[in-house]
Amino acid sequence: MKKPYLRAFGGGEQTFPVSEIRYRSGDGRTLEVDNCIAVMDVKKASALRRIFDTRLMSRKPLDKSGVWRYREFLPAFKPFDAVVTMFEGNTAIFSMPKCARYCGMEHLLAKHQGLNPTGSFKDNGMTAAVTMAKKLGAKMVACASTGNTSASMAAYAARAGLKSIVFIPDGQIAYGKLSQSLDYGALTIQIAGDFDKAMEIVEDLCGRGALYLLNSINPFRIEGQKTIMIEMLHQLGWKAPDWVIVPGGNLGNSSSVGKAFDEMVRSKFINKAPKIAIIQAQGANPLYNSFVSGDRTLHPVHANTRATAIKIGNPVSFDKAFFAVDSTGGTVEQVTEEEIALAKSVIGTDGVGSEPASATTVAGCKKLVAKGIINKSDTAVCILTGHLLKDPDYTVEFHRDELYLDAQRATTLSGTERISTGGLSNRPVKLPADKGEIMKYIDSWAKK
Ligand code: F0G
Repeated sequence: MKKPYLRAFGGGEQTFPVSEIRYRSGDGRTLEVDNCIAVMDVKKASALRRIFDTRLMSRKPLDKSGVWRYREFLPAFKPFDAVVTMFEGNTAIFSMPKCARYCGMEHLLAKHQGLNPTGSFKDNGMTAAVTMAKKLGAKMVACASTGNTSASMAAYAARAGLKSIVFIPDGQIAYGKLSQSLDYGALTIQIAGDFDKAMEIVEDLCGRGALYLLNSINPFRIEGQKTIMIEMLHQLGWKAPDWVIVPGGNLGNSSSVGKAFDEMVRSKFINKAPKIAIIQAQGANPLYNSFVSGDRTLHPVHANTRATAIKIGNPVSFDKAFFAVDSTGGTVEQVTEEEIALAKSVIGTDGVGSEPASATTVAGCKKLVAKGIINKSDTAVCILTGHLLKDPDYTVEFHRDELYLDAQRATTLSGTERISTGGLSNRPVKLPADKGEIMKYIDSWAKK
């Protein structure tokens, strides 16, 4: 079997060894790992599936991790002797009856990546990229982040004994996420600018040496994130759903979904890839714009959304995301602030909950069903990328009917746009400390 190597995304001759620290090709394209996946026969694929099943009962750290359990798809990290794992992955798939009804579907599934060690899907990619950072001898790691990448990087770097530096847009990340990178000991630099500016700065600084870049432009992040889909297929008995629906921000996750299915089909694990639907917030929609216009060219936008995780106007993995959509016959959709807020509250009523960016999936599903692109009897899996508790302010503001587009509300309230909660808010109530009064209230509430 040929050894994995890095190649410029989009074809051509530029290749590099996996041991070379670089993030782009000579002509500025992103890189991807070519795993030289051997085209297996069906028999070989089913033998490997049985091995994956056996590992579910193993106590070995590598087998317990929902990423490294699938290490045959991660040959670039061989020999797996210095893996930095927090037993990431292993996230549940829930059936979501209330969301299904809301979307007009017969049933709907959600894979909750918020159940990861740091509460987001980033852990799947970070275990891989921090493992590679150690292998390559890095001492300091860095990323720009809307909050989840930084939380994850800080945690895994702490586990690995590496110093970590995060660059975040000042005042624009949720407190749950900020608190994590502080607690895990990262140097936390608040940039007076947005995520796109922070990304530009950190990529340049990492290009000078000293700092190893752990954003999803790092191809090893994409490798780890790929296993979200492998684990999903494993959980579904290797029966591919019709649709996988993901939020789109910097587009690393969408790219990893596309790469996962490409490799799973080539290795005969599944016959046909699910269609990938990437959902963007209307205020941060460069992929959607170019999908609709058909020009396939990135025109950066000035991003604005309360789903701060995806408040990104100049996504790094734009081309890879198009591959994910095109190679699976998928689609791109956008959703408004109100649609995100309402979908998030419905996810909550299924007892699951998520952070706002994740709710674009359910909001997008509803829209795609209405347009007849997703059929109501299709099997669809929404990827809930982050935990409800990442951004509690958003949720409390929603339920108090006080959700505004301008999160900081530095200006007067009249200068900001209020997001409708569509009658779905669940306002907290204030009652006197009087048992009779409280019981009276509960009785009338129970009758509603
Ligand atoms: N959902 C959540 C909860 C996220 O944190 C992100 C990205 C996305 C979706 C979008 O994924 O960027 O791969 O398209 N968060 C990054 C961060 C940008 O810095 O935490 P993407």
